[in-house]
This record gives sequence, C-alpha cells and structure tokens, in this order.
Amino acid sequence: MSSDLRIDPDRMLAAFDQLAATGSAGDGGVHRPTFSEAHLAARARFRQQIQEAGLLFRVDGAGNHSASLPCGTEGAPTLLIGSHLDSVPNGGRFDGTLGVMAALEVLRTVKDHGLKLKFHLEAIDFTDEEGTLVGLLGSAALAGCLDPALLQSPRGGHEQLHQGMQRAGLTESGMLSAARPRDSLAGYLELHIEQGKRLERLGIDIGIVSAIVGIWSYRVYFIGRADHAGSTSMDDRRDASLGASAFTLAARALVMQDFPNCVVNVGRMDFTPGAFNIVPARVDLALEFRSPDAAQFDRLNAALLQLAQDQARRFGLELKLESLGKHFPCQMDDRLRQAMAAACDALDLTHVSLPSGAGHDGQSLSGFCPVGMLFVPSVDGASHSAREFTAWSDCVNGANALLQTVLRLAS
Ligand code: GLV
Ligand code: MN
Ligand code: MN
Repeated sequence: MSSDLRIDPDRMLAAFDQLAATGSAGDGGVHRPTFSEAHLAARARFRQQIQEAGLLFRVDGAGNHSASLPCGTEGAPTLLIGSHLDSVPNGGRFDGTLGVMAALEVLRTVKDHGLKLKFHLEAIDFTDEEGTLVGLLGSAALAGCLDPALLQSPRGGHEQLHQGMQRAGLTESGMLSAARPRDSLAGYLELHIEQGKRLERLGIDIGIVSAIVGIWSYRVYFIGRADHAGSTSMDDRRDASLGASAFTLAARALVMQDFPNCVVNVGRMDFTPGAFNIVPARVDLALEFRSPDAAQFDRLNAALLQLAQDQARRFGLELKLESLGKHFPCQMDDRLRQAMAAACDALDLTHVSLPSGAGHDGQSLSGFCPVGMLFVPSVDGASHSAREFTAWSDCVNGANALLQTVLRLAS
C-alpha cells in the first residue's frame, strides 16, 4: 500500500552529500552564488543524478533544471516539487539543496514502485532563488510573471547578471519564454529548513507554512561631497557616511517600534571614493525590508523612504532611490495544507502551522497554481551561514512527509 511507502534515507543522503561537496566552503557551508562555477557544477551534478536515476532531464529557457517522471495518465497536469541549488555567498548546505534532493528522492521512490498517479511528477531546481542577481528568478519566469525591467536593473548588478547568463548559456528572450501554460501544473510543493527557532523551541517535527513574507529591495544613494579629511572642519563636510549610518540606526528603531512583525536589513554599504583620508562623497546602501501583510508593506515602504529623506536632509546630502524588486506576501493553499497535515498525522509526526520570514519560490507560483511548503527544524535557527544544520532524521521526516503528501494529493 502506498501509505506504507517511505523514501530511502541513505540514497537521499548520498545525493545530498554530493551537493554539499560541490562548492563546499570547507567550513560545513557552500559558496554557490547563482551562475558561479560552483553553482553550474552543482547543476551538472544534479543532471547526472537525474540521468543515473533513469528520470527524464529537462532544462528551460530560465535555466531551471528538472527531473520528470511521466507517472500520470496522458494529458494529466504535473505536480512540481523542488527548491533551489544556488546559495547566498558563504551559505549553508541545507538551504534549498534539501528540497531539491528530497524532491528527487520522492520521484525515485514513486518510480521504483511503478506507481500510477493522477498527475506527472517533476523535481525542480529553480534559478536564482536567493537573489544574488534578481531573486525568485526561475520561478517567476516559469509562472510568466518575470518583469523584464528586472533583467535591466537587477539588484545584483546588470553586468553580473548578463555575464552569468552568458556563462550558463541563457538569454533574455529565453528567460521570458520559459512561462508554462497555467493549466499545466497541478501544484507546487517544497520542503525547506525552517531557518528560525520556532520548531526547535516547540519540539515539533514539521512546520506547515501558512504564508510567506513580502520582500522589497532598494539601492539607496546618499550623495555628499568629497573633501580632504584632515583640512576640512567637521562642520563644513557633506559626509555621505553620516546619512547612511544614521538611516540604518533609525530604520531599526522605526521597525522595532512601529512595525513589530516586520524586519529591515542594510546588507551592504559601498563608499566612494572609499579612502582613509577622503570624506565619503557617496554611499550606496543595499536595503531590504519584509512584511507579512500587503497593506502594512506599503506603509513600511513609505515610512522608510521618508526616513531616508529626513536623514539625508539632516546631513546636507542628496538622496536617490532605486527600487530593485518587490516580492509580494502570499498565502499557502488550504487544500495542500490539509494534505500535508494528514500526511504528518499518518506518519506520527507532530506539526504546527507557521508563517515563513524567508522568501521562497512559492511566492512566484502562488497566483499560478496551488502552493504548499513544509519546514523541518533548524538547529539554533541558523541559516545563510555555515552554522546552518538540520539533523538528518529531521530531513528524512520532511522527505517522507513530502512523499506522503504527494500520494494523498494523487488519490
Ligand atoms: C532567501 O532565502 C531569502 O529569504 O532571502
Ligand atoms: Mn532557500
Ligand atoms: Mn536562502
């Protein structure tokens, strides 16, 4: 009976370890920014795993790599399962990779048992989930919601994106032609590490995601004037670093006081000219903020932009803003959530519903097909760091919950 079916934990671990070794940073983590040599090597490894498993390999115009198993009746839609193999710079080995390896293992298990389902299965590795270049790029392309303007002003830089695409053999027109017909997908499921401390603190096996947070990125330019750092008096400077620093501190205070369920991050500041003895003429600041609620997201946006204006004025600076992509908050599908809960119950796994503070490809797909996500515990909540860790038994629980959800949806 398919309710007794389980994934093969050793086979999944062997595949996972191959990926952990590809782009290994030597500290337990991986360094696989989108389209880096290490990222392309990870994708080549995934392709090899697909072929060795006797599954069909597919790559689309956005570079999304996938394994497909035609286990449905002719003309049936496809249930997509997956995650991403790119990492943030010096990221952890579980973020994204676990979901792709679990999806591959689900397909192998279904194939081994020769099951016929009411949909075909596809295990996908989406391009540039992490936003090193654009963010949720492959999933947006697949769902037909990729804004061509983002390919011109990606948050990771135009040259970086276009050189990377060239290395990967991708083109802009290819990206925009990767959209699939709306009725071709039965849904999208993803297993991921939680990247927070809630499951660990509660001692619960599985998180069933209720919603995914919205994410908005800006480049903020504080523009002052270069001057001699020794001979210019302190009151005669238009020091761009002061606006950038004061804004960073004030943004933290604003969010903590007025937007308690939101977060803000300044992940980078670039100083021009950038020397010990020159007053900074310009600071380019990488700003990202997140909110679970669409209306609040807009209020937070307005408040942060006003704050940037205020701090620029305070230090006699000019301010320029460039919006570099907005991913909307979204809700997960109720029917998929029920199927995930029933699968956990049948496996005797405890579960709780929780929202995701991290972004995921399901955000691109949520207006396109039903989307559901499962989380497994992250030790100490660590992620986007080499400290990221999830016990293998938890990874296996997650993969079995994924398999049993697929089988429930198929019956
Ligand atoms: C991706 O992991 C993100 O939330 O930035
Ligand atoms: Mn991820
Ligand atoms: Mn991530």
